[in-house]
Amino acid sequence: MVDKLDDLLRRQVRRHESDGAAPPQQPQPPPVAPQAPAAPALSSILLNARQAAQEDHNPLSGHLPPAPRDIDSTGLSPTYIADLILKHLYFETELKSIEIAERIGLPFGGVTEPLLSALKADRSVEIRGGESTMSFSWRYVLTSRGSDRAKDALSRSFYVGKAPVSMYDYYTMVTAQAIQVDVGVEQVREAYQDLIVTEDLLRKIGPAVSSNKSIFMYGPPGNGKTSIAERIFRVLSGTLCVPYAVEIDGHVIKLYDPFYHQPLKQDEPQSLEAKDRTLSRYDCRWNLSRRPFVVVGGELTLETLDLIWNDSARYYEAPFQLKSNGGILLIDDFGRQVIKPQDLLNRWIVPLEKGIDYLTLHTGKKFEVPFRQLVVFSTNLNPADLVDEAFLRRLRYKIEIPNPTPEQFVAIFQAVCQHKGVAYDEATLAYLMHKYDKLGVEPRSCHPRDLIDIIMDEARFRGIGAQLSPDNIDLAWASYFVTYK
Ligand SMILES: Nc1ncnc2c1ncn2[C@@H]1O[C@H](COP(=O)(O)OP(=O)(O)O)[C@@H](O)[C@H]1O
Ligand SMILES: [Mg+2]
Repeated sequence: MVDKLDDLLRRQVRRHESDGAAPPQQPQPPPVAPQAPAAPALSSILLNARQAAQEDHNPLSGHLPPAPRDIDSTGLSPTYIADLILKHLYFETELKSIEIAERIGLPFGGVTEPLLSALKADRSVEIRGGESTMSFSWRYVLTSRGSDRAKDALSRSFYVGKAPVSMYDYYTMVTAQAIQVDVGVEQVREAYQDLIVTEDLLRKIGPAVSSNKSIFMYGPPGNGKTSIAERIFRVLSGTLCVPYAVEIDGHVIKLYDPFYHQPLKQDEPQSLEAKDRTLSRYDCRWNLSRRPFVVVGGELTLETLDLIWNDSARYYEAPFQLKSNGGILLIDDFGRQVIKPQDLLNRWIVPLEKGIDYLTLHTGKKFEVPFRQLVVFSTNLNPADLVDEAFLRRLRYKIEIPNPTPEQFVAIFQAVCQHKGVAYDEATLAYLMHKYDKLGVEPRSCHPRDLIDIIMDEARFRGIGAQLSPDNIDLAWASYFVTYK
């Protein structure tokens, strides 16, 4: 049945084209990307996107690629898209044809329309009517034959969403959008204005971000490693074009994650005509988002670095590193993961050097994916105990985040007072500094925030205003630091 439908679908598409619809495009390259894509394909996508940007002022046009004009240029088989349409219809009583186009993210003319006609000729769908003579408003329902086909398709994969893009297109797009910024010291200063950091640190961050090479931050806890890494995100500007899903060998990898890929604009209700216009201009299988900032902590295991096969849903979820492409991947508290630091670095040594990672389908097939993100490792552990020198050499920028100097500590203390609305008192601060000395405790950058928080909690409990005094410092200190004799 599949072959017959595929045939029917292809004939239908040809007829559509000879009716004067969109001209056929160059055949797409195969969906598997065993090699990095060749330069011409990359430039043609970008060129198209740029041309589209010049044609109108739609903010999407600068980044989303142009819509595929026909089924061939989607990189997907007609049967694959037809099955996806049936699956969408399976979960709704009826859908207007433009709504179907919207749900699969493909244009109505040239792709959805000929497929719906073919599905109708195959008696898998029926038209229930429409509000006008415009075919994009016609309402479609599944027939019992269509419903059987949908169930069959769902048993193979429960993926019901936007149509995936080919791995080749994804590869091309990630390569084109890799972080390429020349970060100036002013820009970095602005991003770090709410932290007390040295000029030396600012001067290290800029080149590290610009070069898009890995950063390794180390130092005692509480001195701002996580905060510093988070602010790198502010330095990165620009948007990213992310596909909802990627197809490889007939399998779907769900990639778009609203948690990490925050959309730049919310979908506003549009008229049917406007939806048709958008879908016919832009490839809506992609979405524009902020560059992702993905943080992974202790939960990291070797398994989570590969494709995550959902056996009941029968499609894959992308691993962290794939979701972080085009953005930042922070391995926070490196060395505290279930996975051993050596194992993680062994797994990533090639990706970090070459910008290419290898993932495995559950069939055992390995394939290449881009690994193009800024990887930041942060650790409280002694780097020498963590990995050997050869490994450390491969992590390009090493930045130590030491304890604050007395001047920095004072500046942080004052900033915290101002931020929390507690009057700064020099004598109390002097008392605190003396206490550090006397008890041999190392001051950390997080102490001012934490100690003042305790003083404020205590004051709130007693129903009085928070004030700095040596007594209050003693009280907070006793709660905060552990002494065991
Ligand atoms: N350089 C700094 N300037 C201002 N506050 C800081 C600085 N470093 C740390 N802090 C404060 O300490 C808190 C904890 O820092 P964090 O980034 O979690 O440290 P780490 O990751 O090194 O353990 C921050 O939320 C912030 O309030
Ligand atoms: Mg931290």
